[in-house]
Amino acid sequence: MDNPDHGHQSVLLQESILLLGIEAAQTIVDCTTGRGGHAQAIGEKLGPSGTLICIDTDDRNLHYAKARLQSLPCKRRFFHANFGQLPEILQAAGVSRVHAIFADLGVSTNQITTGDYGLSFSNDSKLDMRLDRRSDTTAADLVNRMEQSELADILFRNADERYSRRIARAIVEARKVKRIETTGELAAIIRSAVKGSPRAAIDSATRTFQALRMEVNRESSSLSALLAAAHALRHPGLRLAVISFHSGEDRLVKHAMRQWKMDSLGESLTPKPITPGDAEMYANPRSRSAKLRGFVFTAAIGSSTQPPVNS
Ligand SMILES: C[S@@+](CC[C@H](N)C(=O)[O-])C[C@H]1O[C@@H](n2cnc3c(N)ncnc32)[C@H](O)[C@@H]1O
Repeated sequence: MDNPDHGHQSVLLQESILLLGIEAAQTIVDCTTGRGGHAQAIGEKLGPSGTLICIDTDDRNLHYAKARLQSLPCKRRFFHANFGQLPEILQAAGVSRVHAIFADLGVSTNQITTGDYGLSFSNDSKLDMRLDRRSDTTAADLVNRMEQSELADILFRNADERYSRRIARAIVEARKVKRIETTGELAAIIRSAVKGSPRAAIDSATRTFQALRMEVNRESSSLSALLAAAHALRHPGLRLAVISFHSGEDRLVKHAMRQWKMDSLGESLTPKPITPGDAEMYANPRSRSAKLRGFVFTAAIGSSTQPPVNS
């Protein structure tokens, strides 16, 4: 086969499947179907009476996954939507109870390497970054219209960029001369703003691109909405597994799971996050920063988190 990894190598695949505790005939949600790698492995466990609900905000990836998953024995439903809308998606699917929810955050390799998405500075392309082509704000809109202080905040908050102010200033100076239209133009502005080793310039460009992508696609607020949805859908046995690639995202997941445990709603399945072993990191360097966390709810909605009062 020309493309054995389908444009993306699934990260922590076996570990995720184990954590989800999938059994035949269950209903499982893959919030980030992507190229369908995890979905395929989940679907194979479900058997003909199981249901796999596949969500992706990128219709191009969803279309690809739909074709790839055709021969799975389970029932499949596909939703071109943001996983932050999970309650609405389940309502539309006529599903009131799911057994596990999975999310493999961020972007797939093909989204980075295909110029169409405007996510990479390795190939000069239109500065877009939208995963969902229906949304109206591109990265070019952000860099050409945001206040300097807002831009610096985004770079610092989303990517811990220590040269955030310097880069934001350079962007604002550059756009006075000409609207910034391409990934190459933006990368050149970042490179000139960050003095020092070429490595520092590449790292800063990588971080700036990540920070803008997160902002364009409202990644943090979508994740918060997904965590809130999992909490609202809880029932004894509901499992949630999330792979994150960024410390800010991992913090959101960790804090939510810690709070649920403190509220006696369930148990963490990963007291420490699961990370890729050497062999996976070697085979797929993109997996380096992955952290997988899992949680199983043991309490139902409406069950008291307070100890019973003795009369
Ligand atoms: C890392 S890839 C998933 C790869 C997939 N697990 C596989 O094995 O092929 C992440 C996917 O999530 C999608 N995505 C990112 N944010 C999303 C969101 N808020 N709602 C739905 N899908 C999202 C991206 O478009 C991308 O296809």
